[in-house]
Amino acid sequence: MKLIKDIKALQSISDYFRATVRTIGFVPTMGYLHDGHISLLQKARMDSEIVVASIFVNPTQFSPTEDFNEYPRDFLRDYHICRNYGVDYIFYPDTKSIYPDDFLTEVYVKDISDRLEGTFRPRHFIGVTTVVAKLINIVKPHFVYLGQKDAQQAIIIKKMCEDLNIDIEIKICPTVREKTGLALSSRNTYLNDDEKTEASILYEALNEGKKMILDYKVVDTESIKKYVSNYISRKSKNIKLQYFAITDNYLMNEIENLKNYKGEVVLSLAAYLGKTRLIDNILFNYNN
Ligand code: PAF
Repeated sequence: MKLIKDIKALQSISDYFRATVRTIGFVPTMGYLHDGHISLLQKARMDSEIVVASIFVNPTQFSPTEDFNEYPRDFLRDYHICRNYGVDYIFYPDTKSIYPDDFLTEVYVKDISDRLEGTFRPRHFIGVTTVVAKLINIVKPHFVYLGQKDAQQAIIIKKMCEDLNIDIEIKICPTVREKTGLALSSRNTYLNDDEKTEASILYEALNEGKKMILDYKVVDTESIKKYVSNYISRKSKNIKLQYFAITDNYLMNEIENLKNYKGEVVLSLAAYLGKTRLIDNILFNYNN
């Protein structure tokens, strides 16, 4: 495995592999890798001849009040994980090379970026799409691997590629969970063991919502939202739900009534447990 910090160097390497007809699979990350990231690396390894992983804690997707400084970092550990899982190139740029002093451009996917997560993290997705567009232009991959855990991020990046004719395939891989159901996240390091157990209520609540829809055929989404919200407050005094939404899986438009709806449904939520903000979602097919 080679460690690359220089943008031009990686672009030349990618040009060479493209010219020699080798497929490049890319896993963008902010490091502090866990089993969720590993599942993306494994998928990339199976699909592609060359696997590139990036490790870059992107400052522009954090608001000034968020946890950019506290965000866990351990490059050496990440380096070994990447090597063990067959990564060929690890891209580890400095902030200044990604955002030089004269950097002016932003990539903004309208509407979807402003709802759900976007309501509570106003410029977050602009930061994500801008850096992902840059990373794609640097790595020049055929495939990009993202986790379903960040459902809205995955949808927005897909839309960006569709709208800007970025010729790559986005592969969205299932959320990896602890045995308790808690979705893996680098931010889980902020939780102690008791909090981790408590946080698994979120996944339980999502499944309760799914049960209401699929087993008990409830179609009025407002009442499902109330039910899920009450379920969480009944089960935990410490979890503060920020939102729970029932949407489609294309533009994440809210579904008001499932009566005339067919297709994929995403139940997604964000909640605080103490100071830690957690997100999760489940995706399923709805055919009435
Ligand atoms: O999901 C993440 O880790 C980040 O948002 C990403 C896609 C690497 C962009 O910084």
